[in-house]
Amino acid sequence: MMQKKLALVVGIGALTFLLMLRWEHVMTLVNLMSSKRPSAEPELPKGTITPIPGSRHLMVSAFKDHRLGGAIRVISIICKQELQPLYCVLCANAKADAKADAKADEALNQCAFSPAKVAVHSESFGFPFVTSDVFCMSPALQQATHVSITANPNANLTFVSIQNQEVKESFKYNFTVCISNLFGEYNNALQFVQTMEVYKLIGVQRVVIYNTSCGPDVEKILNYYRKEGMLEVVPWPIDKFLTPSTGWKYDLHHGDMHYYGQLTTLNECIYRYMYQSKYLLLNDIDEIIMPYKHANLEKLMGTLQQQHPNVGVFSIENHIFPKTQFDDSGRFRLPRWRSVPGVNILEHVYREPDRKHVFNPTKLLISPRSVEQTSVHSTLKQFGPVFNVPFDVCRIIHVRVPLQGQLSKDQLFVDKKLWEFEELLISSIDRALNESGVL
Ligand SMILES: *[C@@H]1O[C@H](CO)[C@@H](O)[C@H](O)[C@H]1NC(C)=O
Ligand SMILES: *[C@@H]1O[C@H](CO)[C@@H](O)[C@H](O)[C@H]1NC(C)=O
Ligand SMILES: *[C@@H]1O[C@H](CO)[C@@H](O)[C@H](O)[C@H]1NC(C)=O
Ligand SMILES: *[C@@H]1O[C@H](CO)[C@@H](O)[C@H](O)[C@H]1NC(C)=O
Repeated sequence: MMQKKLALVVGIGALTFLLMLRWEHVMTLVNLMSSKRPSAEPELPKGTITPIPGSRHLMVSAFKDHRLGGAIRVISIICKQELQPLYCVLCANAKADAKADAKADEALNQCAFSPAKVAVHSESFGFPFVTSDVFCMSPALQQATHVSITANPNANLTFVSIQNQEVKESFKYNFTVCISNLFGEYNNALQFVQTMEVYKLIGVQRVVIYNTSCGPDVEKILNYYRKEGMLEVVPWPIDKFLTPSTGWKYDLHHGDMHYYGQLTTLNECIYRYMYQSKYLLLNDIDEIIMPYKHANLEKLMGTLQQQHPNVGVFSIENHIFPKTQFDDSGRFRLPRWRSVPGVNILEHVYREPDRKHVFNPTKLLISPRSVEQTSVHSTLKQFGPVFNVPFDVCRIIHVRVPLQGQLSKDQLFVDKKLWEFEELLISSIDRALNESGVL
């Protein structure tokens, strides 16, 4: 036992040393190429957000895009008013791969400088910092494993690894929900647990949440689902770099960037899960994309995809269930849930009607491999057509403050879809509340 541990420690130590050596090597090359003094320590990112040296821009993560001939896309946040030239440094680091063999040992680290091509997304809601793709294309370095973006060739560089190196045809998950942001000490624990358990029952296998901040009860719930394996929490400390807006529109809410970088995280999620999930659901934490004619998402998409084989973007209507209108019977007003902060979605069975002259916002169910850029309610760039899913086939259950608050109960529709899950749902909500330590 002792010997095994020792071997492991020595092994890890040796590996770390080798990796550092390699990185020093990389840095030396980089420094030679940019003819500046060498830096002692190679910088690897400390988090998901990294400043781009010599600018106010930020880089997030890098992915190879096989649909664009293997171009390297670095998802970034660009200050639109300060568009100076940016440079890519692509490096191939054989040792950084776990499967280093004798041949790889001989392979030298190589780096290549090239001008970056910046594609600022067309949607910014008026804010100065905009989600962007910074493209690095260097045919000389198809084997690149790491990339850095800089406005200042003399700066010390921080490298991010290039993900999605291989195309995959089969996926670990069929349905993954991307929740763009948690912020403002969000503590709506009951609605979150209920929503997660409904997701499971309709066939969601994975949920990804970008976390800027959350309240104490939601923190317990997040940790519960992470341990259980369903949830990936991506740290998103955007407030350490910018003044995020708490609203969606610059004229109304000000700040550097739309809604804590919601558009950046949605796009990041698409690339992060491009080869991990067959479908992605891009909705908020208080929304459930619900099949109304099929038992689950698998059956729904089986039908839709058969009818529309070339479609990779399905647009789903959002419908508001006001949290101010309660079911009269009190059937799910369970005393044991009273101490849990948040909304009990099972009590809100009244749905607002469509307004004739008001556009019904939509959210998206996509095949990530069909999408290049997305906004909140529609994609910005996709491959293939978009299909608007009829309201009676699938729609979003969105329990929140009313949009049409003047309407009385008899002017709203009764929609008890969630009650159909009662048998399995109540006990699984109880279990999650118990085991997370919220109850
Ligand atoms: C690069 O890093 C070295 C070592 O940390 C530091 O001494 C130097 O000032 C840095 N250079 C720049 C341009 O930031
Ligand atoms: C995904 O769906 C396929 C059928 O389309 C099924 O065989 C597979 O088990 C599902 N994967 C998961 C993780 O549920
Ligand atoms: C979410 O982010 C906040 C702020 O960084 C942190 O305190 C908290 O632990 C994070 N929660 C999880 C579950 O990662
Ligand atoms: C939750 O915990 C309570 C008290 O410890 C227990 O009585 C109840 O059976 C538990 N419920 C579930 C679903 O685990």
